[in-house]
Amino acid sequence: MDIKEVEGLTAQALSELAGAADGTALEGLRVKYLGRNGLLPALMQGLKDVPAADKPALGLALNRFKTDVTAAVKERKAALEAGTRPALEAGFDYSLPGRWPRQGRLHPITQLIDRTSAIFRRMGFVVADGPDIETEYYNFDALNTPPDHVSRDLGDTFYLPGGLLLRTQTSAVQARYMEQRQPPVRIVCPGRCYRRDTTDATHSANFHQIEGLYVDAKVSLADLKSDIDHFARELMGPAVKSRFRAHFFPFTEPSVEVDFSCHMCGGTGCRVCKQSGWIEIMGAGMVDPNVFQMAGYDPENVTGYAFGMGIERLAMILFGIDDIRRLYENDVRYLAQF
Ligand code: PHE
Repeated sequence: MDIKEVEGLTAQALSELAGAADGTALEGLRVKYLGRNGLLPALMQGLKDVPAADKPALGLALNRFKTDVTAAVKERKAALEAGTRPALEAGFDYSLPGRWPRQGRLHPITQLIDRTSAIFRRMGFVVADGPDIETEYYNFDALNTPPDHVSRDLGDTFYLPGGLLLRTQTSAVQARYMEQRQPPVRIVCPGRCYRRDTTDATHSANFHQIEGLYVDAKVSLADLKSDIDHFARELMGPAVKSRFRAHFFPFTEPSVEVDFSCHMCGGTGCRVCKQSGWIEIMGAGMVDPNVFQMAGYDPENVTGYAFGMGIERLAMILFGIDDIRRLYENDVRYLAQF
């Protein structure tokens, strides 16, 4: 045995290792060269038979054989693992980080329906429900809407065959509910409404409202004012106030439009309130005696208030959404912000 031979064996081992096709082949080569009964121990064994003068150089060559081959085994092993990932061959790689399911979120409209309903529930209201496909009676007649009222116009309402229509307001639920129950009544009704509006930044043919109705022996406009004030504070913050402006609805008398003081600027004027300090939020009023009569209530014995507001509008104001269409385009990247 001489140095040339050892160097030749080293080169051969390294080239074989570099060509090892898989883990099994690599392990076979490791055993062949470095194993207890492999080549290296045999060569070491032979060292004792070489002349003393040659021993140091030959020992050095054998040491290099050992370090080079050991390093090559390690290197090839790493390369094979990186390339094939043995666990993957079994169909599943346990070493990969877990895949987290993406967390879902409630749509801003759903969030606001939940939030507003929760506020009114805490005030003693229960949530009531009605159909999207309504009769002309509940959507208009029972709400004291004259036959020639503009809201009945073909250009405003989606009519269906057979005296049916897509409800234009959640107020229809009031009429249904009162027919079924005796006072006291304290309900909120969130739900979809439909109007023949051309879609633009603030209009959508399909939108949501939440309606409120409170009927009892002595409900007054002052109750409406204080309950709405409470709702304003709960929804928008403790500093927010409400104000009433005279208005007209067929089913309430007197009727008001309700503004909230701007939650962004506190009333001094900003972009959100268009410099006015106030934001229009809802329609409301004292239930018209005619509505009670049609529901079978005696207007001499009960009074009540009703209000209704647009959920999309609330969402746009509270979340700073500039275009109602964004709520319906279902771009999850956009909606997930809220
Ligand atoms: N239904 C009315 C609308 O859609 C809102 C309203 C509800 C007004 C209840 C008064 C009382 O505009």
